[in-house]
Amino acid sequence: MKALLCEAYGPPESLKLTELAKPEPGPGEVLIKVNAAALNFPDLLFVSGQYQVNIPPPFIPGLEAAGAVEAVGAGVDSVAVGDRVMVTATHGMFAEYVVVKAREVAPTPDQLTDAEAASFLITYSTACHGLYDLAQLKEGQLVLVLGAAGGVGSAAIELAKARGAQVIAAASSGDKLNFAERCGADETINYSQVSLRDELKVLTAGRGVDVVFDPVGGDLALPSLKALAWQGTYLVVGFASGEIPKFPANLTLLKEGSITGVWWGTWASREPQEQIRNLKLMAGMVADGQLKPRISAQYPLADYEAAFADISGRRVLGKVVFDLTDS
Ligand SMILES: NC(=O)c1ccc[n+]([C@@H]2O[C@H](COP(=O)([O-])OP(=O)(O)OC[C@H]3O[C@@H](n4cnc5c(N)ncnc54)[C@H](OP(=O)(O)O)[C@@H]3O)[C@@H](O)[C@H]2O)c1
Repeated sequence: MKALLCEAYGPPESLKLTELAKPEPGPGEVLIKVNAAALNFPDLLFVSGQYQVNIPPPFIPGLEAAGAVEAVGAGVDSVAVGDRVMVTATHGMFAEYVVVKAREVAPTPDQLTDAEAASFLITYSTACHGLYDLAQLKEGQLVLVLGAAGGVGSAAIELAKARGAQVIAAASSGDKLNFAERCGADETINYSQVSLRDELKVLTAGRGVDVVFDPVGGDLALPSLKALAWQGTYLVVGFASGEIPKFPANLTLLKEGSITGVWWGTWASREPQEQIRNLKLMAGMVADGQLKPRISAQYPLADYEAAFADISGRRVLGKVVFDLTDS
């Protein structure tokens, strides 16, 4: 099978497109023919050895995919050959076939193409867990989404709107903010052109926001924390800017605010039943048309350098996907 291999940590250009033996499922495992695999910002960190938990090379990168079950190992009765499935695991998705544990697959909603399904699990589950479980977002509350046109950012907009919240989307360009509006954002801020702090004061009439959803960090963090409303929640989702913010504790005291970390993958493995509950909730929202993964570019696996460059170059609107249907 064709696969992308990380033989040593380095930039995406150091990956190799290679031929490997098709894997076979062992007991409790499932072989999936991958039709689409989505890139995520953490893929950049995994291949360069800079993620919180690293995978020792050689490994096939790729955290999420969608396709069809080709074979099942002994003892698997939760899925059957031919089922359309979405899957997420720590690595292995940038290949024509992947073997995963049966519990790592979820049924693909009928309304989603394989490319859309490959783009669904990580970003939507992260935003759902952060906004619904941790921040306990309520109808009518005000949410600030930073990096709003990215994968988790755009999913957060849709999930916040589905809960009946108001969304201020913040991003670095007009194109990205137009995209955020198409995802449902009510107000927008271009933080490459105006002061985030001043604009938030104006848009919230000084009241502040109930929830900050922050996958970016860096210079955006402090003005966003300062814009928290009384008893608001600041969700630390990621550090795409490359800079981990440090917060003065007095700012939380003044608002009785909370700074809450979100680590969806680890939470989902600790609380699998809760994750299944969230997936069922979101499958209903997909069926209702409230959630719709958006794809800005699709590439064959051979064009991996261009696909990774979209992520590192901040060009993504929604998601970037590898198309493996011809494989
Ligand atoms: N906590 C969790 O469980 C969890 C789960 C998934 C992802 N994450 C994290 O969330 C973050 C975003 O992931 P994603 O998949 O949404 O990424 P993405 O689609 O690439 O979006 C990231 C956004 O960050 C902004 N950004 C600012 N500086 C950047 C830079 N130097 N390079 C790239 N982007 C930059 C960009 O928006 P502007 O250009 O508009 O600023 C971009 O749209 C990552 O740090 C990722 O590790 C966390």
